[in-house]
Amino acid sequence: MAKAARKILITSALPYANGSLHLGHLVGYIQADIWVRFQKMRGEECTYICGSDSHGTPIMIQAQKMGIDPEELVKTLSKEHEKDFADFFIEFDNYHSTHSPENKELVELVFKRHLERGNITKRVIKQAYDPEKNMFLPDRFIKGECPKCGAKDQYGDNCEACGATYAPTELKNPYSTLSGAKPIEKESEHYFFKLKNYETVLREWTRNGHLQEEVTNKLDEWFEAGLQEWDISRDKPYFGFTIPGETDKFFYCWLDAPIGYMASFKNLCDRNKKLNFLEYWGKDSTAELYHFIGKDIIYFHALFWPAVLTGADFRTPTAIFANGFLTVDGQKMSKSRGTFIKARTYLNHLPPEYLRYYFAAKLSNRIEDLDIHFDDFTQRVNSDLVGKFINIFSRCASFINNLFEGKLGSSLSEPNLYQEFSLAGDSIAEKFESLEFSHAIRQIMALADKANQYIDEKKPWTLAKDASRKSDVQATCTMGINLFRLLMIYLKPVLPQTAKNCEDLLNISPLTWDDRLTPLLDHTIKPFRPLNKRLEKTEIDAMKTAAKEDLDTKPTDTTKPVAAHEPIKETISIDDFAKIDLRIAKIITAEHLEGADKLLRLELDIGSEVRQVFAGIKSAYQPEQLIGKLTVMVANLAPRKMRFGESQGMVLAAGPGGKDLWILSPEEGAQPGMRVK
Ligand code: MSP
Ligand code: ZN
Repeated sequence: MAKAARKILITSALPYANGSLHLGHLVGYIQADIWVRFQKMRGEECTYICGSDSHGTPIMIQAQKMGIDPEELVKTLSKEHEKDFADFFIEFDNYHSTHSPENKELVELVFKRHLERGNITKRVIKQAYDPEKNMFLPDRFIKGECPKCGAKDQYGDNCEACGATYAPTELKNPYSTLSGAKPIEKESEHYFFKLKNYETVLREWTRNGHLQEEVTNKLDEWFEAGLQEWDISRDKPYFGFTIPGETDKFFYCWLDAPIGYMASFKNLCDRNKKLNFLEYWGKDSTAELYHFIGKDIIYFHALFWPAVLTGADFRTPTAIFANGFLTVDGQKMSKSRGTFIKARTYLNHLPPEYLRYYFAAKLSNRIEDLDIHFDDFTQRVNSDLVGKFINIFSRCASFINNLFEGKLGSSLSEPNLYQEFSLAGDSIAEKFESLEFSHAIRQIMALADKANQYIDEKKPWTLAKDASRKSDVQATCTMGINLFRLLMIYLKPVLPQTAKNCEDLLNISPLTWDDRLTPLLDHTIKPFRPLNKRLEKTEIDAMKTAAKEDLDTKPTDTTKPVAAHEPIKETISIDDFAKIDLRIAKIITAEHLEGADKLLRLELDIGSEVRQVFAGIKSAYQPEQLIGKLTVMVANLAPRKMRFGESQGMVLAAGPGGKDLWILSPEEGAQPGMRVK
């Protein structure tokens, strides 16, 4: 009798609906999707869900900046994310949102159960408040000078210049990044979750094989530091669910975010009657539940989440899998180097499956950061996928098509070789199952080498010249295609699109893991057409150039254009005018400023000295376009302290603003330092 299918529910982190997805995000989703596809191919009852994380201050602020409702922002970005995922063949069974009726109901239920258990307490706390914006400020909206080294514009937890760590309250000259105002302290009453009530539960849970070793160690550190009460409320203005019984207080988005997994599943259950909510989430559930997340959100998933679930009478996860972070070309993704690559930018230039393959070839089940080096990427894809894997098929299919009308032989000439490839499926499956994808890929590619060797030895191209050896050509190519088919089965979780194309060419129904047990014989395949193509360096370069460009297209600039017929200002005397010392300046440096929406930092050579100026021309120029240009500056404008440093003058520009802004540029022949009269 066949083994009963496992019931598996898999979730991926719910992406924030306030920005586009980039290659870093994709690591975890591709990892989870490969695992899901693997399980489905093995015949397991597997459901993969996700959705938008729609609540929180950053989403509210972003919507405000764009002049739209947060609901609208969330809708637009959810659509964008869904399209990105689909185009990378990341296939969710449901994509929902934390801002949904299902989630509201579940959050309220969870909260009520915790209230009843005495797990919630209220107390008044003091927090930073922006007196101009009239709102409490999350730490990431406060910057200031480092209390240790004095570096400017540091966030409230650690200094990027000297590495010191400190509390936000220790920052010198703090300012709100929203208004520039100095934050004040303000009191407000908050709801807290008494995490300590679940210390015993958590300590036991972390020891029971639900977590990667690194996560268990992290948790031990947190236990040692002592479990603090968790603040689960936020004051208005906030985009979230109102706390029952309150009008101006909301649930913190990190309380309702993981409950969003349940909501997404609930929403699916309501449409698919074969699925039962409590069968998966009930306290006695025997289904498996896995959360795939990035390493930065372990705290919320491994500590709060199991406690929140337990106290609300739901089951806890079977396991949490955390992935490391992506670096590009060995470094943190960088906008100026063109390595901050949006999912869509990649899709516009390169095949999605190549990224899936590359990630798979590098992923392990540990929380290691993963680097995508584009030379290595190109080399790997070309040599493995095109040079080894697809090559087996193209070498054999042409003979089968041309000499045998597409017909495969009726027996295997090397049953032992087939057997070896087919048995390897067990150990490859173990590697997929335990998330050791890189090991699985290595084994598959070693088999691909072996298959190519086999063909090299048999030399069907030589045999084909000899009419008396015709049946040997068919035998060899039938073997080759059968070995290829086995490799296609093993790579199908990684390359779903290629698999589809091959299934079509081979004229077979969708491949399952068990199909490896029966060879494909006495069967007619379709005429061959090329499958995957080699990557060219020019394609990578084009993507990087595009990545630099599309990051500078900001959401619409809201500054009002000043009409050309704006009335002329009050008259001044020639003496007034003579006071303005205008000089020709050569732009020798131009660069972006971290956290500045409008300003670029310029260094201007005015002959006798070099001045630093912060110019509001970011909307119209790329820094590279400016370097080496001549322009006109006000050289005797009183220096002004800005949050990025001292601005020592002003560059003259004309235009209504936004993209339409031109710095004044003198004719050739002008020299830095010359007076403009
Ligand atoms: N909204 C939260 C998750 C809530 S889950 C209940 C969130 N969203 S996110 O958009 O910031 O990130 C989505 C996923 O991408 C997270 O798993 C995060 O860890 C992961 N990554 C974000 N940047 C990443 C890299 N540079 N590299 C690898 N993973 C990255 O967090
Ligand atoms: Zn410092």
